[in-house]
Amino acid sequence: MTTTAITHIGSLVTNDTSLGTGPLGLLRDAAVVVDGDRVAWVGGTSKAPATDNAVDAGGRAVLPGFVDSHSHLVFAGDRTDEFNARMSGRGYSAGGIRTTVAATRAASDAELEAGLVRYLDEALRQGTTTLETKSGYGLSVHDEARALRIAAAHTDEVTYLGAHVVAPEYADDPDGYVALVTGEMLDACAPHARWVDVFCEKGAFDGDQSRAVLEAGLAKGLSARVHANQLGHGPGVRLAVELGAASADHCTHLTDADVDALAQGSTVATLLPGAEFSTRAPWPDARRLLDAGVTVALSTDCNPGSSFTSSVPFCIALAVRDMGMTPDEAVWSATAGGAAALRRTDVGRIAPGARADLVLLDAPSHVHLAYRPGVPLVAGVWKRGVRVR
Ligand code: NIG
Ligand code: FE
Repeated sequence: MTTTAITHIGSLVTNDTSLGTGPLGLLRDAAVVVDGDRVAWVGGTSKAPATDNAVDAGGRAVLPGFVDSHSHLVFAGDRTDEFNARMSGRGYSAGGIRTTVAATRAASDAELEAGLVRYLDEALRQGTTTLETKSGYGLSVHDEARALRIAAAHTDEVTYLGAHVVAPEYADDPDGYVALVTGEMLDACAPHARWVDVFCEKGAFDGDQSRAVLEAGLAKGLSARVHANQLGHGPGVRLAVELGAASADHCTHLTDADVDALAQGSTVATLLPGAEFSTRAPWPDARRLLDAGVTVALSTDCNPGSSFTSSVPFCIALAVRDMGMTPDEAVWSATAGGAAALRRTDVGRIAPGARADLVLLDAPSHVHLAYRPGVPLVAGVWKRGVRVR
């Protein structure tokens, strides 16, 4: 196999505290050796072993590829009008999801796949090397299953979100829709997915319905993640912890009991500041969660309704500016935190044996991701050892 060394890295984030200093395991004047799709060696440039190829980072920063553990990328159409209305003062409601459902149902497989590939490529160019994505804009057995099939051709992290909102055909029979989601639709979707998710929120699914959806998915061998406490207080976060979900996502409106539950459980709190940005909602309080000892992930929630950004660097900048995170914490959450939210140990870190997913910045340090918001700093991306930009 071909070996490549990236040398003269001014500042290397390993997220491995045994390799470097502080929680990010930082190394100065470092080198990383990639062998095939894996990291083979990490250390000082002067000690780097001989390799087939070398890339001189020229003092610039390298960090693990971003792990975006929450997106909704199988959809058609956009919701510019809804965004415009919000920016003139209208509020966000879960009901807008049905606009995208209509457009998605009307689209061909090829159109849906082309959209997914476009957003995946957009994300990759901004440093995202692992990306979770969901169904949830089909809401019929056929349309949910095809969304997952299309997603599964492009990522291993696929989530069944038939319980996004009640399908229009079931507007008068929400429990009938839950029966579909936990029965025939689950049977058709489970083979294509790793995760089951539910939008536990007023206007979507209540605590009992959400429990039914998650328990059915778990019984079918899927693992759980939950859209929880985005638009208001509710049972989502505590349900996620109780059922051992990998992640409770959004966590915008939390009581002390929610924070305690997260601190005592094993569920990661995934914060999605693109949604608060784009809905003009209050920011989730990352500081409160971190101070309570909760593991925090940071992701984009990329979707056409509440957060139409594929940029993890943008989310890092928001989290630092408005959610009380330090740049180190935000970068950890967007890499190792995302990996934790997906229960992955092979990504989100740069250490021997890890997947060779690396980002080279046109900057001397990862701090510049927040310090220079909006600037395209990603100068190189390696995914599974292959340089893709
Ligand atoms: O994560 N919260 C539910 N789902 C998406 C919004 C989807 C939409 O508005 O289309 C979210 O924000
Ligand atoms: Fe979402």
